Amino acid sequence: MEKLNSKVKVAVFISGRGSNLKNLIKHSKLKKSKYLINLVISNKSEAKGLLYAKKNNIKNFSIEKKTLIFEKKALKILKKFKIDILCLAGFMRILSAEFIRKTKIPIINIHPSLLPKLKGLNTHERAIKAKYKYSGCTVHYVNSKLDSGKIILRKKVKILKKDTKYTLAKKILKLEHIAYPEALKKII
Ligand code: GAR
Repeated sequence: MEKLNSKVKVAVFISGRGSNLKNLIKHSKLKKSKYLINLVISNKSEAKGLLYAKKNNIKNFSIEKKTLIFEKKALKILKKFKIDILCLAGFMRILSAEFIRKTKIPIINIHPSLLPKLKGLNTHERAIKAKYKYSGCTVHYVNSKLDSGKIILRKKVKILKKDTKYTLAKKILKLEHIAYPEALKKII
C-alpha cells in the first residue's frame, strides 16, 4: 500500500463519540505517519466525532439516510477523494456486501472484544456475564458477515472481579487507542 511520494489517504466512518477518530487524527500528524485522515463521514448529524474533523480541517459529511442512500452517497464521496483505506470507528451500521465490493479498497473495523468471541453489541456486559478471564479489542478487515473478517491484530486485558461493564469499557477503549494506529501501520 505504501505510496512513493504521498501519504495513504484514509477515510473514517463514525456514528458517535469519535474517540478512536480523535486518536487516529493525532497519530496521523506524527512525522513518521504514512497516512493522512482525509475524510470523515457520519451517519448521525449529532455525532460528537464530527467536531474533531471540523477542528482539524478534515472534510466531513453527515449523511442521515437509510442504508441504501447512505451507501450510494458515501461511495461517491470516497471515490471523489480517492480514498485508499476506509476505517470504521464506532460506526454502528452494517455495510452491505455490494458496498464492500464496490469500494474496492480495504475496509477495517475496530471491535471491543477478542474476536471471534462476542460479535455484535454489548460486548463488555456479555464478557463479564460469561465470566471470561480476558477481553480486549480486535482490528479486522470488514467482509459481508458481522465482525467476521480477517483479523489484523488483537489486544487483551484481564477482567478483574471488581470490573463492571463501565470499568471494562474504559480499560478496553484505552487499548483500542493503541490497537487502531498499530493495525493501520501494519497494513500500510
Ligand atoms: C468503540 O469501543 C468501538 O470499539 C465500538 O464503539 C466504540 C466507539 O467509540 N465499536 C463497535 O462496537 C462496533 N461494533 P468511539 O466513538 O469513541 O471511537
